[in-house]
Amino acid sequence: MNPPNLAQASLFRNCNFYLGHWKDFSKMIPVYDPSSNQEIGSVPDLPAEEIRAAILFAEKEQRSWAKTLPKERAKYLRNWANLMIQNREDLAKIMTWEQGKPLAESRGEIDYAASYLEWFAEEAKRTYGDIIPTHRKELRLLSWKEPIGVTGILTPWNFPSSMITRKVGPALAAGCVVISKPSELTPYSAIALAVLAQEAGLPPGVFQVVTGRPETIADEFLDNPGVKKISFTGSTRVGKILLEKSAKQIKRISLELGGNAPFIVFADANLKEAVKGAIASKFRNTGQTCVCANRFLVEEKVADEFATMLAEEVSKFKVGNGFEEGVNQGPLIHSAALHKVDSHVKDALQKGGKLRIGGKPHSLGGSFYEPTVLTNVTEDSLCFQEETFGPLAPIHSFKTEEEALRIANATSVGLASYMYTNDPARIWRMTESIEAGMVAVNEGILSTEQVPFGGVKESGIGREGSKYGIEEYQEIKYICWGGQS
Ligand code: SIN
Repeated sequence: MNPPNLAQASLFRNCNFYLGHWKDFSKMIPVYDPSSNQEIGSVPDLPAEEIRAAILFAEKEQRSWAKTLPKERAKYLRNWANLMIQNREDLAKIMTWEQGKPLAESRGEIDYAASYLEWFAEEAKRTYGDIIPTHRKELRLLSWKEPIGVTGILTPWNFPSSMITRKVGPALAAGCVVISKPSELTPYSAIALAVLAQEAGLPPGVFQVVTGRPETIADEFLDNPGVKKISFTGSTRVGKILLEKSAKQIKRISLELGGNAPFIVFADANLKEAVKGAIASKFRNTGQTCVCANRFLVEEKVADEFATMLAEEVSKFKVGNGFEEGVNQGPLIHSAALHKVDSHVKDALQKGGKLRIGGKPHSLGGSFYEPTVLTNVTEDSLCFQEETFGPLAPIHSFKTEEEALRIANATSVGLASYMYTNDPARIWRMTESIEAGMVAVNEGILSTEQVPFGGVKESGIGREGSKYGIEEYQEIKYICWGGQS
């Protein structure tokens, strides 16, 4: 199949950029359009030897990239960001084609992705060291930051572009070269980024893209001493495996893992705003974000009204192929994702939940699912215990603030959380007590490049974006300089 009308057709390629060339491979992995389930192409299924060669190539480049001036690195990153914006429409089409999200959301993601390159172009110039007050007259003490070294990044299918730039921006800014392994479900956005990296003038070993089986590539990153740092976004289950395996070489690792975000609505909240926030948080990317509201906790007095208002807004959704005008809910990524959502809905209903809207696979077939609102959902329902990663809004009502907080924190993960209330004292109490890396108050979308994105508990290790993101790719070196008196 031809890519959908790209202005620059070369952005869509069935090969990888590594070892300084565009290369295909004898064994390929097919990639499917989740809207039609048709194959859109295939990308290399690289074996460990090829990954090893890419790492060797990266190690050579690492020495010179680390020596470039921050200002030069900033220039490359800015050029790259500008090219992303210039090619926004094509990149968005590629994303919608392989990932399924509505075109407007893909355009938004391209801007979001480019913003990380732009932000870290600026941060590259601000990685200060310290002059430390000495404890002996003849000594001078100082410290500075150094790049960790060759970095392997492993990124998911739900945000095929921004999860890469959120890692590659700070890595390159810090002076680390990157080998990027995108999800095998959505490799084309990463490959398009490699095309633009070349156009931006990046030296060939600075950003390589390799596709293949996740275990093969991750294991090579973990076992190969040439890779000094790994950054992963994905499930907590896989994060734990990587963390355990990284112990062998004490490999530096950043993990951005799953969430189970509570969305708490108190009776004093502006309900119209709360519904608006709920729609944005829950249904962005058809509910396939790790920060999306997973458990709705609504104060008993307004629970019914909130559910009615939410269901009414959901009834206006248009589900369909992301390229169609007006569609705001695309398909789920694959049939396994659909089965998970459906099993959560069935389980909640069986445990006493009540259906307000949706509740079954969509008549469009494939992996389309009806946007769903359930009330009276019990705390022991699967959708309260695990991330659903789909268009299901389960509502549970509570009576007191203490109860809301107890339920909100009754999870092993702690990424995002949301609350709607107009009581300032309660906002302080709740934000201080909630066990999450990110808290949104009277707002449904919290992601942006200038804030520290990340979680507590089993939601991961480290922060992305913000002034802290670059630290994930740096080591601190301390220098003790004698004979100075
Ligand atoms: C994610 O779902 O992993 C990221 C979402 C975001 O950046 O908003």
